[in-house]
Amino acid sequence: MDRPSYYASIKFLVVAMSIFFVSMALHRISSFFRSRERERKANLPPPKRSPGEDLLPNMSEKGDLRMDVEFTNLGLVLNGSKKKVLNNVTGCLKSGRITAIMGPSGAGKTTFMNVIAGKASYGETTGSIKINGFEDRVANYSTMCGFVPQDDTMMRDMTVEENLLFYARMRLPKDTTNAKCREITQDVINTLGLSHVQHEPIGDETTRGISGGQRKRVNVGMEMVSNPSLLFLDEPTSGLDSATSYELLEALKELAKKGTNIVVVLHQPSWQLFQLFDDVLLLGKGGCTVYLGASGDAQEYFEKLGFECPDRVNPADFYMDVIAGKYPRRNDAEFESKDLFGMWAEHETSKRRSPARAGSDVTCKVGKISMEQMKSVEPIGFFKSYGMYVGRTVLQYNKHKVTFLSDVLMQLVAGGVVGGLYMNFQFKEINTMNFMLGLVVGLTCSLAELRVFGAEREVFWRESSPGR
Ligand SMILES: Nc1ncnc2c1ncn2[C@@H]1O[C@H](COP(=O)(O)OP(=O)(O)OP(=O)(O)O)[C@@H](O)[C@H]1O
Ligand SMILES: [Mg+2]
Repeated sequence: MDRPSYYASIKFLVVAMSIFFVSMALHRISSFFRSRERERKANLPPPKRSPGEDLLPNMSEKGDLRMDVEFTNLGLVLNGSKKKVLNNVTGCLKSGRITAIMGPSGAGKTTFMNVIAGKASYGETTGSIKINGFEDRVANYSTMCGFVPQDDTMMRDMTVEENLLFYARMRLPKDTTNAKCREITQDVINTLGLSHVQHEPIGDETTRGISGGQRKRVNVGMEMVSNPSLLFLDEPTSGLDSATSYELLEALKELAKKGTNIVVVLHQPSWQLFQLFDDVLLLGKGGCTVYLGASGDAQEYFEKLGFECPDRVNPADFYMDVIAGKYPRRNDAEFESKDLFGMWAEHETSKRRSPARAGSDVTCKVGKISMEQMKSVEPIGFFKSYGMYVGRTVLQYNKHKVTFLSDVLMQLVAGGVVGGLYMNFQFKEINTMNFMLGLVVGLTCSLAELRVFGAEREVFWRESSPGR
């Protein structure tokens, strides 16, 4: 076979580059019109809400799928150091209510949540957990539970709506229609106050997208769309201003109205925020209980112990300061913060002894969730989810047309050059074949490496900037 003429190679390159530049121009034009449309939508006023209105009308009530979680003497001993980081916590997380878990850093708030959710593989768990009155494990109900991690983990190049809709389709029961998934997603978007940015990409360090607060709300929304029976959130309000935190908690309140059991870890909520919680678990150092009960009763409990909340002090901050030992106890000069653990144990023992209050906290309303009920909330199967992932990858490629086309173009050019140079080569020796294989793999991998450098460019600029 003859070598391709010089003229033919040039023709090939000119055609490939023309295709590349024409597609780039088309991409620019279409993104100009898309950004204009996005700007128009972003300027629309948010939908008006009337008081008492159901903001999640398409989401079903939990009914028999409610999950009440009772735990007795819950503890965790770390595997290596044998340190006890959660110490005999006893109480109940009730459905249809929001429970706040508060305490100083390292008190074991995340550990408590991990132990309940069955995720604390780094230690040995003690104590027992009952679900709706029956000894069980939360992990057995994983399809009915949601866990919002502290970090915003989502596809940054997809829009708010695309991210939420993907999760709705993946997590809602398999017989949920596409239209219903869309309606639920839209309800969640409206409830979280994200409707004006729903077509915006999330964005990352290199591409500007929605704000950090909006991203946090998307992170919560991704679990909300699955309409879980039990929802854990680890510091969902960290880094948010008080107004945005309030909006987020109000959205969670809407979900709790449907019967969801919501457990939120948070640091120092404002008083307005604290009032939105139904129950509160205060943990001290070493994962010991300081208080667990209705948030409205906490002040009375601390007053009985001899701690008066001063005027104009946020009670939520006051409780944290008492746990830190910053407030003196009335008529007790030798008070130390660790005494609070004994006081709580004493309070619980006396409550159990009192006939009027015995058993008042136990809420096993529903009974065991049956296998049939579990089946009714089963999400889509393996093959459908595989299709969904493929669809999402295609969608992502579609968003990066220029990158994709330039990859193809580079491969074409590389293939053309290598093919042209070694056209008449005889691949008989293993060394020659190795050389060719190395050349091809090197040329293909270099594209991926270039992209890694692109992503790390921002870190490089930050590290190399003066005054870091
Ligand atoms: N995976 C782990 N391996 C070993 N020790 C751990 C692990 N996770 C938590 N711990 C230890 O358990 C204790 C409680 O940690 P935890 O993360 O529950 O605290 P926290 O109250 O959530 O703190 P923060 O408010 O800072 O998030 C800490 O002393 C921590 O060092
Ligand atoms: Mg934590």
